[in-house]
Amino acid sequence: MTIKTEAESAFKEPGYASSEEGESLCALRDPRKDADPSKGKNDSGFNSSDDNLSSTSDTNSVSSTDSPSSDRITSPITAHLPEEVLASLPDGAAEFLKLIRDGTKVGLPDSFQVPIEDVPSWFDKKKYQLGRQFGHKYYFGINFAEMVSLYLLFLPDRTLEPLIFTGNSHTPYKAFKRYLSTGLRVKSWIDCDIFDTESVGYKNLRTVRAMHLNASRKLNGCPREEIARRGTMAGEPGREGVWCPSYQGIRKDLAGTCPFAGFDEAFKMELQDAEATRLYFSQTDMSITQFGFVGLVLLYPGKFGAGSATDEELEGFAHLWRCIGYLLGIEDRFNFCQGTLAEIRQRTAYTLDFLIKPRFKDAGPDWEHMSRCMVEGISYYIPGVTFEVSLSYMCWALDIQIPSVSTKLTVVQNFFFGLTKLFFCHTSRIPAVLRFHNYLLRNALQKVQKQPREWHEKLESKKYDYQKTGGRDHFAQIGNELPVLS
Ligand code: HEM
Repeated sequence: MTIKTEAESAFKEPGYASSEEGESLCALRDPRKDADPSKGKNDSGFNSSDDNLSSTSDTNSVSSTDSPSSDRITSPITAHLPEEVLASLPDGAAEFLKLIRDGTKVGLPDSFQVPIEDVPSWFDKKKYQLGRQFGHKYYFGINFAEMVSLYLLFLPDRTLEPLIFTGNSHTPYKAFKRYLSTGLRVKSWIDCDIFDTESVGYKNLRTVRAMHLNASRKLNGCPREEIARRGTMAGEPGREGVWCPSYQGIRKDLAGTCPFAGFDEAFKMELQDAEATRLYFSQTDMSITQFGFVGLVLLYPGKFGAGSATDEELEGFAHLWRCIGYLLGIEDRFNFCQGTLAEIRQRTAYTLDFLIKPRFKDAGPDWEHMSRCMVEGISYYIPGVTFEVSLSYMCWALDIQIPSVSTKLTVVQNFFFGLTKLFFCHTSRIPAVLRFHNYLLRNALQKVQKQPREWHEKLESKKYDYQKTGGRDHFAQIGNELPVLS
């Protein structure tokens, strides 16, 4: 079934980063209020059974051994994790972490083809349609959650480097184009039937798959030293300056507060051992990015404007993203959205607790710069959105204390922070208010695509204070802490 919507026409609109460009790029268990902890009690990270990795509670799910490129995970994660740490992990967490580590060695399929002919056995049309309906109904909140999830996705190793390396989002204007294009493509995956090869959604999947494969070939074929130079703002891309006034404060706020910090250090060493075989655009990276599109809404629907959603609707949304992940080349065993809602929520909680929250204490200039550029770029078409308020809101939602940012909000920023809370937690439960916000966002996306050339030129030439200082001053000041170009 094809739903013809504005996404069909938007495909040819200037909001998209051109598809030609894309295709030639070759260039611890958490008692969260919204979640249902009782259901996930014995669920493991990705699967609830054993190394066979098939989900016990999702009878439709595909065993990893069905996947032609799968290699079974057998080695335990014991090299750096002391016995007592392993023993103290919640049920299933060790299994989850094994898969995370082992997924770093498995790359994307070496094919541009979207496996559209191979509809997976777990595909459930009803759930899929429910997911799309959910996407329409809670569009505004989903988009906000996706935006703030980028703060989280920029934290683990190997997610930021590719973005700096490709050079498409490290200035506010570039980030504007990049994230507008991303927003439109993701919107088409909700608006269209992605299994219809004539739909814009399918075409966008094809383009994104090509972008990923091309970028992954480039990065995985590139000498490490060159990536080190081009994949950080301390290297070549940093000549225009680095926008990072807050990260040191955030680091201090979080130093010594994370209960999983010791674990994180051990797990980092574990990953370093895997360094030689570790890939860019690995299945783990893909899976964690998938978390960024669904995790916060599934775990905290009431904090991201979906407080009135039913479990069936949330499950449908996860199913939609299971399909998107599959079509983008994620193997079933690594698909973040496989399994029941309780399992996915459990996985989300583990991802936050083990892989993301501990990394806040290491947030560096690259993280802050890319985050600020992203939000500033988005503010070109959603006025009012700011780094300070959106980061404070996300940290509030995740119970992360960053007083160096949140206590310094201006009166206006505090007002917007309060308004954001009021809207996402309360007023968004009123259907008319929800619909109005969805309309505002869709309208903003339409309007920005019609902006004249002069509008673009003005924003592209806009100078920010961080650029005026020029060069890599910031890194030069703290050169012993971060790589500086010779
Ligand atoms: C489920 C996982 C993922 C989804 C849904 C996704 C989504 C997207 C989308 C929609 C675009 C198009 C952006 C545009 O039109 O300009 C894109 C491009 C891109 N993505 Fe992903 N992505 C995923 C995983 C990843 C991962 C793991 C990485 C690497 C760490 C990555 C890096 C890139 C890069 C480098 C581009 C090309 C544009 C640029 O240079 O920024 N993506 N992705």
